[in-house]
Amino acid sequence: MKLPKFPVDAPFSADQKSWLSGFLAGVKAVQTSTLEDSKQSKDNPDNVLNILFGTQTGNAEGLALETADVAKTYGLDTKVQGLDEVDIKDFQNMKNVIVSIATYGEGEMPDNAELFWKDLVSPEMPKLPEMRFGVLALGDTGYDEFCQAGKLIDMRLEQLGASRIISRQDCDVDYEDIAASWISDAVPKLTNNLSHSDPGEKSTRVRSEWNRKNPFPARLSLNKLLSKNGSGKEIRHYEVDISDSGIEYSAGDVINVLPVNNSTLVSLIIERLDIDPSHIPNGKEQSLEVLLTSYYEISTPGKKLVTYLEEKLNNESLSKVVKNSDKQALSDYLWGKDILDLLNIDPDFHFDVDEFLSNLKPLQHRAYSISSSPKKYPDSVHMTISSVRWLTNNRDHLGVCSTYLADRVNDDQKVKIFMSPNKAFRIPENHETPMIMVGPGTGIAPFRAFLDEREIIGASGQNWLFFGDQTREFDFIYENEFSEKLEKGILTKLDLAFSRDQDEKIYVQDRMLESSAELFRWLEKGAYFYVCGDALRMAKDVDATLRKIIEMEGNMTSEKADAYVNNLKKEKRYLRDVY
Ligand SMILES: Cc1cc2nc3c(=O)[nH]c(=O)nc-3n(C[C@H](O)[C@H](O)[C@H](O)COP(=O)(O)OP(=O)(O)OC[C@H]3O[C@@H](n4cnc5c(N)ncnc54)[C@H](O)[C@@H]3O)c2cc1C
Ligand SMILES: NC(=O)c1ccc[n+]([C@@H]2O[C@H](COP(=O)([O-])OP(=O)(O)OC[C@H]3O[C@@H](n4cnc5c(N)ncnc54)[C@H](OP(=O)(O)O)[C@@H]3O)[C@@H](O)[C@H]2O)c1
Ligand SMILES: Cc1cc2nc3c(=O)[nH]c(=O)nc-3n(C[C@H](O)[C@H](O)[C@H](O)COP(=O)(O)O)c2cc1C
Repeated sequence: MKLPKFPVDAPFSADQKSWLSGFLAGVKAVQTSTLEDSKQSKDNPDNVLNILFGTQTGNAEGLALETADVAKTYGLDTKVQGLDEVDIKDFQNMKNVIVSIATYGEGEMPDNAELFWKDLVSPEMPKLPEMRFGVLALGDTGYDEFCQAGKLIDMRLEQLGASRIISRQDCDVDYEDIAASWISDAVPKLTNNLSHSDPGEKSTRVRSEWNRKNPFPARLSLNKLLSKNGSGKEIRHYEVDISDSGIEYSAGDVINVLPVNNSTLVSLIIERLDIDPSHIPNGKEQSLEVLLTSYYEISTPGKKLVTYLEEKLNNESLSKVVKNSDKQALSDYLWGKDILDLLNIDPDFHFDVDEFLSNLKPLQHRAYSISSSPKKYPDSVHMTISSVRWLTNNRDHLGVCSTYLADRVNDDQKVKIFMSPNKAFRIPENHETPMIMVGPGTGIAPFRAFLDEREIIGASGQNWLFFGDQTREFDFIYENEFSEKLEKGILTKLDLAFSRDQDEKIYVQDRMLESSAELFRWLEKGAYFYVCGDALRMAKDVDATLRKIIEMEGNMTSEKADAYVNNLKKEKRYLRDVY
């Protein structure tokens, strides 16, 4: 569900006003639930702290579990649930609620919160005068709609008459400390009316020793080109050695890599700033060179830096796109430009180093869908990565992490990694259940892992893979592995869509349509439907095609087809890992 752009700090635009007036009209129709209803609840909700999470890659879930750990030290009863596990009727009876939620897409709900949000904004949703709540919102200020999902849930609960016991906390990518501090404030505030049993109950949750703040230094044991010479892309297979780390993972999980910046770009920026690389900026303990190498994003310009440069540089083109609030024009202007390109808009302007640094974002880890099964490779984690490289202003521009792995990790260097469990993205528990997997490009990664996993455990369920990329000759990655899986009967069907092998583009969703009757039959016999890869175009088009197939083959109206898809989601049979 596309969310409205909610103006938290700015005035409402006409579009936002129109959406909100419809939304508020719905709210007027809300009926007030009676106290009697809640008293009939099976569990006494008054004494439970409900901790609900909306997540894609596990951060919000981790914080929900942290919250439960803190609550347990107060001797409180807690119930931690994903928002897709919450029955809206049960929710109406909850008295004490903490929601920890990330934002996805362009200001959208994470997949596991989508249906909950639909229920929450429905005109049938009763008022919640007895609910006390707090919202912990996760996001990234690099996106236009920062923490939008959390903002909307927070606003909607207030509209429904629930009492906000603590102000919402919006967290940027460095969320750990700020979230921990909010949790330690929120728990006692939200629960001072609850009865406490003996305090001091220790958490039994097993936490990984390795995390973002303490990553595991892994040896890069393999860096192999998968795409062939002649391809328009550079897709690589990587393996990192995790033996002796104690790290455990599951097929479907995500691995995070903390990159190091390219030294040529570091030198060019230092040269442009006209300062000694060994200079130690004010308030810092390391040299400028070290800071720009390992601590700051120096490639893609963030919003704060763009605003700063616009103020300083007084450049007509930059000012026009920054000041006219046209996000598309700004994004078009910035496309392909890195920070050095922007600094060079006026090569003679002298920047104050401390001021410049204060406008940079901290260097972030990059996430990769794991392409190995631990059942086959317990001591290593595999990744399938497309290297990001392009040319602007006659200078090579490099994606930070993909080219760090491709070009800059020597034999004696270790790659810093940590894992994010993706508990929602797993092979079916029932080994007989069929799987349909749609994974063009690097979206193939988790499905390589799933197929290995199913082969090793001897799962008898049928497996159907839709894969594609630009050309069969150069981009059919893992071809031998998939041919072998077909021969062995592990892969029941393989449908390929090579987009540039003919005049007209052919995409995976075209192949889905060609087999629409069979695809619907698989869904009817309980198949799981998985999608991995590009979120902005592919996953949206595949979703639209899936609905079209259900409508066509199931003889349904579009509303019925939407309900069918919602049911797939409720049953956790429509699972996505899109980025
Ligand atoms: C959950 C998850 C799973 C993922 N799994 C995978 C995976 O399995 N495999 C994989 O390859 N990636 C995957 N990604 C994407 C990955 O995390 C990185 O975003 C990707 O590798 C690029 O990072 P980078 O540091 O190399 O590039 P960055 O330095 O982050 O640069 C990327 C930016 O460069 C710019 N850019 C890119 N191409 C061009 C161009 N041609 N012209 C001009 N500008 C351009 C764009 O602004 C883009 O945002 C995943 C992401 C998520 C969130
Ligand atoms: N958000 C992030 O963090 C992030 C970072 C890096 C990359 N990405 C995304 O990740 C994607 C993965 O890149 P990739 O190299 O693995 O492969 P890709 O760019 O997704 O390309 C794989 C295949 O999909 C095709 N395709 C293009 N548009 C499509 C559509 N609307 N529907 C279905 N198929 C479509 C491509 O065809 P054509 O190219 O011939 O049209 C190609 O054949 C990139 O597209 C990028 O958008 C996201
Ligand atoms: C594809 C993608 C889209 C995102 N879109 C947004 C966004 O629109 N607004 C925002 O504030 N954060 C956005 N984020 C950042 C996530 O909300 C943030 O990384 C969060 O910590 C993820 O939490 P999770 O692990 O619980 O899913 C996006 C992240 C990804 C990978």
